[in-house]
Amino acid sequence: MYSYFEIQSKIGITKHMGGIEATRKLLKMCKVDNTDNILVVGSGNGFSAIKIHEITGCRVMGVDISEEMILRAREKLKPTDSEIEFRVGDAENLEFPDNIFDVVLSESVTGFTDKKKSIPEYHRVLKDGGYLGLNEVTWISNPSHEVDEFCRRVMGLMAETEDVWLSLLSEAGFKNINSSVNSMDQWKQMRGDFELQSMDFFRIWGRFFNLYLREREYRKSANHLAWETLHIPRGFNRYYGYGLYVGQK
Ligand SMILES: C[S@@+](CC[C@H](N)C(=O)[O-])C[C@H]1O[C@@H](n2cnc3c(N)ncnc32)[C@H](O)[C@@H]1O
Repeated sequence: MYSYFEIQSKIGITKHMGGIEATRKLLKMCKVDNTDNILVVGSGNGFSAIKIHEITGCRVMGVDISEEMILRAREKLKPTDSEIEFRVGDAENLEFPDNIFDVVLSESVTGFTDKKKSIPEYHRVLKDGGYLGLNEVTWISNPSHEVDEFCRRVMGLMAETEDVWLSLLSEAGFKNINSSVNSMDQWKQMRGDFELQSMDFFRIWGRFFNLYLREREYRKSANHLAWETLHIPRGFNRYYGYGLYVGQK
């Protein structure tokens, strides 16, 4: 059976909470200017990293643990995109020297990692005075056991409350920490996802139907995920939100 991210990477879809509007807000909170060198950790299908370059004009390096995601991201680069690069890399063990990025951004990624390893890595690769911007799934209130277990089992997601995210940043050495927590708005989320993925809409769904019809393993995994999603625990949306967290090195 394919994992949650394997199902997505095979068709080239990824997303984060709050869509591109949340990314714009995070860039503002990180005081990004066009001379900055930005590391995007968990760049997925590459759309948001490319969008970040378009919005800011900055040099952007995207890393993702999945080789397939990196291939999907590289496919989108034009010959003129010399200031954007995608590499395979692990948030928990970044293959970069200390103190080289002005900004590290990560959206809907750190909750899938061992945070006590990844967040100190973000701190290590940042220059002194540089900013970390995280957009991560945040429990609006302590979730029921069923909701927490569902996220861990189905997606491999270990979400946290705002207080826990804040103390993780502070334990890793970040200062001047700011946060803003938002509840999940399904319709707004769907509009935001569509806005970001629409450039590739037909290719994503073309790949999906092709795999679904031709590959038994893919069909089985996608059906299983759909079944799980239909049996989402009651009250899920009451707990599920996202937080924007910014800290300075
Ligand atoms: C929910 S997707 C978000 C992708 C992207 N940030 C976006 O906004 O579309 C999470 C991504 O994190 C990647 N990922 C998971 N664990 C990782 C790790 N330890 N290091 C780097 N990337 C990781 C997955 O492969 C996936 O592409």
